Amino acid sequence: MPGRRPALPVVRSLVRKVRSASKAAAYRLTKGVLRRFGYDFEVFPRSKRDAHAVGSADERFYREWRSPSPVWAPWRGEPDFREAYDGVEPYTVVSGDRCQVLYRLGNQALFVDGDFAECGVYRGGTALLLSKVLEGHEKTLHLFDSFEGLPAPDPERDPDLERGVFKATSVQAVEALLGGFSGSLRIHEGWIPSTFDGLEDSRFAFVHIDVDLYRSTLDCLEYFYPRLSAGGIVVFDDYGFPAARGEKNAVDEFFSDRPEAPLALPTGQAIVTKLP
Ligand SMILES: C[S@@+](CC[C@H](N)C(=O)[O-])C[C@H]1O[C@@H](n2cnc3c(N)ncnc32)[C@H](O)[C@@H]1O
Repeated sequence: MPGRRPALPVVRSLVRKVRSASKAAAYRLTKGVLRRFGYDFEVFPRSKRDAHAVGSADERFYREWRSPSPVWAPWRGEPDFREAYDGVEPYTVVSGDRCQVLYRLGNQALFVDGDFAECGVYRGGTALLLSKVLEGHEKTLHLFDSFEGLPAPDPERDPDLERGVFKATSVQAVEALLGGFSGSLRIHEGWIPSTFDGLEDSRFAFVHIDVDLYRSTLDCLEYFYPRLSAGGIVVFDDYGFPAARGEKNAVDEFFSDRPEAPLALPTGQAIVTKLP
């Protein structure tokens, strides 16, 4: 009927508002009731990049991990970690819980023969954390990055990532950030795997692989695995994140015919410890 049409968008927007307000009220009410019984839940909005996990055969394995009771969460401020983490947060895209995993396993790897390495440095936050672990020890910290961001992803294997992401950095900025480190530091600027050339005889105790892409991850594994000492540890930063599933696929393929089993953590990382 003429005359009613202009009112429609207003009505629609009102209905939308009422709906979302009642959804929010229902959410708060359910949360409140469950909390009384000692339970809690959270709803995480899914980004487009994570949509891969929805409707796939693996969907149920991508649920957010939560415990009904409080769990020990040392990354919230346990003194020795807090001290090492100080100054790291503004320079990293790696969350505090994942940094705590790096810190603990890095400390364990101090007892293993060989150097430390990080592939995927970006602005240097996790490299700074590892340098603090190594302070006062006779191990070299090797850092590998293009400092030009990600190379071109494989459109089939890394469909959610783009060339050039993480390029807002430089080798000079990372050198300056780690300027207080009194140990041995080697920054290998350029594209993996060519930056491994000349390091054929090296041995490693700890490797942090944070390169996001299928090909980059596989290149790292092909170089580091044979050079990792028994008891040496590799941490994969993005193993559990759907947007970086190329990394998971590379890790799973690589270890499918090897004795080590990648251990997926609720942080999104995976760890592998080299067997003797
Ligand atoms: C997620 S960022 C690293 C984050 C960093 N660990 C932190 O603390 O925030 C990933 C990095 O991997 C690097 N990268 C990925 N593939 C590479 C390759 N083939 N060669 C060199 N660098 C690569 C990118 O340049 C980027 O800086």
